[in-house]
Amino acid sequence: MTPPILELVAASKTFRIRNIFGGEKSVAALQQVSLKLDEGRALAIVGESGSGKSTLGRAATGLFPLSSGQVLFRGRDIATIRGRKARLKHRRAVQMIFQDPFSALNPAHTVRHHLERPLRLHHGLSGVALGERVAGIVAEAELDPNHTLDKYPHELSGGQRQRVNLARVLAVGAELVVADEPTSMLDVSIRRSMLELIARLKTQRGLSLLYITHDIATAHYIAEETAVMFGGRIVEWGPSREVIARPAHPYTKVLLSAVPNASERLDGDSAAAAAFAVEVARVRGMAKEEIGQWTEVSPGHYAAV
Ligand SMILES: Nc1ncnc2c1ncn2[C@@H]1O[C@H](COP(=O)(O)OP(=O)(O)O)[C@@H](O)[C@H]1O
Ligand SMILES: [Mg+2]
Repeated sequence: MTPPILELVAASKTFRIRNIFGGEKSVAALQQVSLKLDEGRALAIVGESGSGKSTLGRAATGLFPLSSGQVLFRGRDIATIRGRKARLKHRRAVQMIFQDPFSALNPAHTVRHHLERPLRLHHGLSGVALGERVAGIVAEAELDPNHTLDKYPHELSGGQRQRVNLARVLAVGAELVVADEPTSMLDVSIRRSMLELIARLKTQRGLSLLYITHDIATAHYIAEETAVMFGGRIVEWGPSREVIARPAHPYTKVLLSAVPNASERLDGDSAAAAAFAVEVARVRGMAKEEIGQWTEVSPGHYAAV
């Protein structure tokens, strides 16, 4: 049996924060998180700001060492990867796309440079073959070559920049992509088309995706499965549509109630809205100890209730 492309085994990460008086505080950003992602599939990680989604994503790429637990890539603990070549290979195979489409682009270089560089460096391409590959990747990312290749990042729109980031990930030859809220800084009008592009690339390229979003309602566009994070833990996990249709954990229900049309419905009824506000406050204030036992609420759908 082939191992999952990504597996986290009881992964925990505690950050120590020093204050200006020299005191220390620790934040348990990730607590005993276990998950599996099979090749060619997508898992959405949803939760509010501060719930630990980015920490999970960065941990999955090996950007920092865990406090405890393991990250396995194709069955191998990434902490045991030794040697420059093997590390480079892993760094290429696992790529991140960030919320801020500017962050991974070098303002001093054109789009062409961003795409040619990894193709030369990692794939040994040059001349006509290089030009053809760049053109192919640009088309895959749905960028207009005549209006983007010789432009600098600041000359492009946010959506175009994020498409360049996607193209760059393809040029590097990523196998697993961690996309950390890739549409949240984009214009509302183009979010949908960006999600559709990511979904299409996943299918066409057989990419595996960890798709981080605070928007539980649209996670199913991309991801077959959804995991809900609350306070550094996963509290619910299952097929995306099942999690939305039949949320089992109180926190998942709160997240779903924050979806625009759900709250619109509540607005008309002030008693219901007040009761809802109380419930939200209760769930957000829940102590870690109140998070229940893992239970399979329906086939393949788990919740800590
Ligand atoms: N590098 C860091 N140093 C200290 N604390 C951090 C660091 N990164 C994240 N945290 C803390 O960990 C918690 C989870 O953060 P994060 O993973 O960014 O959540 P999310 O992406 O869901 O908003 C937060 O309390 C945050 O302040
Ligand atoms: Mg984040």
